[in-house]
Amino acid sequence: MKIIFFSAKPYDRSFFNKHNGQFGFELEFFDTHLGPHIVHAITAADAVCVFVNDKVNAEVIRVLAEKGIKVIALRCAGFNNVDLEAAQRYGLKVCRVPAYSPEAVAEHALAMILTLNRKTHKAYNRVREQNFSLNGLLGFNLHGKTVGVIGTGNIGKAFCRIMTGVGCRVLGHDLTEDQELKDTGVVYKPREEVLRQSDIISLHCPLTEETHNLINRDTIVQMKKGVMLINTSRGKLIHTADAIEALKTGQIGYLGIDVYEQEEKLFFKDLSESIIDDDTIQRLMSFPNVLVTAHQAFFTAEALNEIALTTFENIRQLLSGRDVSHKGALLC
Ligand code: NAI
Repeated sequence: MKIIFFSAKPYDRSFFNKHNGQFGFELEFFDTHLGPHIVHAITAADAVCVFVNDKVNAEVIRVLAEKGIKVIALRCAGFNNVDLEAAQRYGLKVCRVPAYSPEAVAEHALAMILTLNRKTHKAYNRVREQNFSLNGLLGFNLHGKTVGVIGTGNIGKAFCRIMTGVGCRVLGHDLTEDQELKDTGVVYKPREEVLRQSDIISLHCPLTEETHNLINRDTIVQMKKGVMLINTSRGKLIHTADAIEALKTGQIGYLGIDVYEQEEKLFFKDLSESIIDDDTIQRLMSFPNVLVTAHQAFFTAEALNEIALTTFENIRQLLSGRDVSHKGALLC
């Protein structure tokens, strides 16, 4: 049984090859994104394995079905880039890795908060140049601050636990409340209240029609002046132009993003010798109080092991007509 991988990086090859011994699939890796530009070129296979920026729209799915592909396996948790309705129409199964390491993403959100707050990136460079001055490095205690968490699923829950441990007051907002979190002191509030009361806001909900541009001019004005905003979820949760305006006025005091609405043209590539024609990301990167990382929150050894194992297991079960045993992995 053959799986074709798209957007495959050296670490994908390494972790999937490492675990394939126990599954025995035939693997083919392509660096390129899956999208209408390439789908006609693929040869016969049983499954395709895609990542966050592959474009799996109705047209792509129609061609995949014509080529006899039976399974679209996402090696990630988010699935906003796959047209599930079209997959269902063409009879393709779609699976994902729902919770490979929520801690990996939650810990990265904490890393972003600490970097923005305590400016360790600046301190590192300064000290190496024998500049031992503290001017400009002033931070604030996290202990006692109010942290708002939008989306308290797998990752949001891990993040709530971390922030509770640091001594923060944690406010949550979700469509459903998590009793375990409430028992540990997390208080659920309507979204407006979370935005209004929080010193730090971290986004952990999926990208849906409802959450698209959730952070925009109207919601930003509801926040505390100087708020710290963290997004490790999906770029389109934030209206970037509105965030830039709010950074200019100081309404947003710190912005940490691991995801960006136009990221598919940039992230996961070395563009250090290129001219970047995206003025929005260039403007964002010019602010001293903005930290951009290139969709690396998931990127730990534990997560990559789990992603490879769960993806193989999902594909094996689906191709042999069995139920998918990982809870929440089957999307259609
Ligand atoms: P999850 O499905 O376990 O949790 C998402 C939560 O958001 C659910 O509890 C859901 O009820 C809630 N939610 C949905 N709509 C909402 C709304 N309108 N308002 C408030 N809450 C809402 O998903 P998980 O695993 O926690 O992942 C969250 C997101 O993180 C994914 O959708 C993905 O976009 C992103 N992600 C980013 C990674 C990275 O490397 N930066 C890696 C993995 C996931």
